[in-house]
Amino acid sequence: MAFTKKTIRDIDVDGKRVLVRVDFNVPVADGVVGDTTRIQAALPTISYLVEHKARVILMSHLGRPKGDGPEAAFSLAPVAEKLAELSGLDVHFVDDTYGERAAAAVAELAPGQVLVLENVRFDKREKKNDPEIARTLASYGDVFVLDAFGTAHRAQGSVVGPAEFIPAVAGLLLEKEVSTLSGLFSNPKRPFVAILGGSKVSDKIGVINRLLDSADTVIVGGGMAYTFAKAQGGQIGDSLCEDDWCDRALEMLAKAEKNGVQFLLPIDNVVADAFAEDANTKLAKTGEIESGWEGLDIGPETEQLFAKAVADAKTVFWNGPCGVFEMDAFAHGTKAIAEAIAANESCDSVIGGGDSVAAVNKFGLADKMTFISTGGGASMQLVEGKPLPGVEALNDAE
Ligand code: 3PG
Repeated sequence: MAFTKKTIRDIDVDGKRVLVRVDFNVPVADGVVGDTTRIQAALPTISYLVEHKARVILMSHLGRPKGDGPEAAFSLAPVAEKLAELSGLDVHFVDDTYGERAAAAVAELAPGQVLVLENVRFDKREKKNDPEIARTLASYGDVFVLDAFGTAHRAQGSVVGPAEFIPAVAGLLLEKEVSTLSGLFSNPKRPFVAILGGSKVSDKIGVINRLLDSADTVIVGGGMAYTFAKAQGGQIGDSLCEDDWCDRALEMLAKAEKNGVQFLLPIDNVVADAFAEDANTKLAKTGEIESGWEGLDIGPETEQLFAKAVADAKTVFWNGPCGVFEMDAFAHGTKAIAEAIAANESCDSVIGGGDSVAAVNKFGLADKMTFISTGGGASMQLVEGKPLPGVEALNDAE
């Protein structure tokens, strides 16, 4: 799908001071960066700018600090170090964001050098989208680049603010994310199969609703499938259920029928007598789960049913696990889905954020997927069809 905003390729960045909002919100424990996916995902934009001899100023949040000043656990210093190691670029770090030391570090930057500012959320004004901090950040750059797809749903100072003061364009990651996820609704290769899991219908209803306008098959697994089962009059024992959402679940089934979309729900389940790795387990047909038992994974017949739909697909979108995959005893169904997607080499597979990304990583199948989104909330908001404030704020392509 055509991306409608200007990108770094549309403007002259040579020798310019380029202020880039990245999403370096990565796991850090005791000063050691865990998963580096988001840092690696930002490299194409950073490298492009460095190749064009820009002076690159990177800013990001990390975690959710209080906003009353520096908190060592949320410092971006280890992330800057990891960026230097992964990129081989000349990366500097300044433990300041809005003050004189940050401004001085920016002034000292030479063409082709990269500066990482300290966590933008060490000041409360970031989350309040205070124009003062946006003005300060904008003063560091001749141009602003948004590449933080994972944070593009937050209307916060460093995400939307600089666009008020200086030209604002998209980075390469943002462009790729938005084009790929929007492409699911404009021109997907068919059959298009969407698999949605996770525990709550209330979290995913907007996504299911929109996918029913585009997909050929919608598959619902995971905890939320029990709300559908109850809505259809089945017995779900002690399984998770959002009673208030049963009517909406039935509406989704009716919409699927009206739109001619195949809607697949689990037909059998792995049920347990406790939410624990060492619980007693057995198989139960959907709608026949006895009291004292709760569904924690899809069963083998469901695995086959879902895998068959995936095998025939030309486009697959997956968000949310089909069971409690963090516990090995209930990981089989989610693994089967990941394997089915990986085995279909002729389909475009798009993995939308959060737990499903953790699942493909856990099963060592990430490199078999066509595209893995770096956004959790942001990718859901986009798939729901809601605008992302960060993207909205950018300059339109001519
Ligand atoms: C994320 O990890 O989803 C983004 O970095 C946004 O983080 P936030 O939910 O703390 O705003």
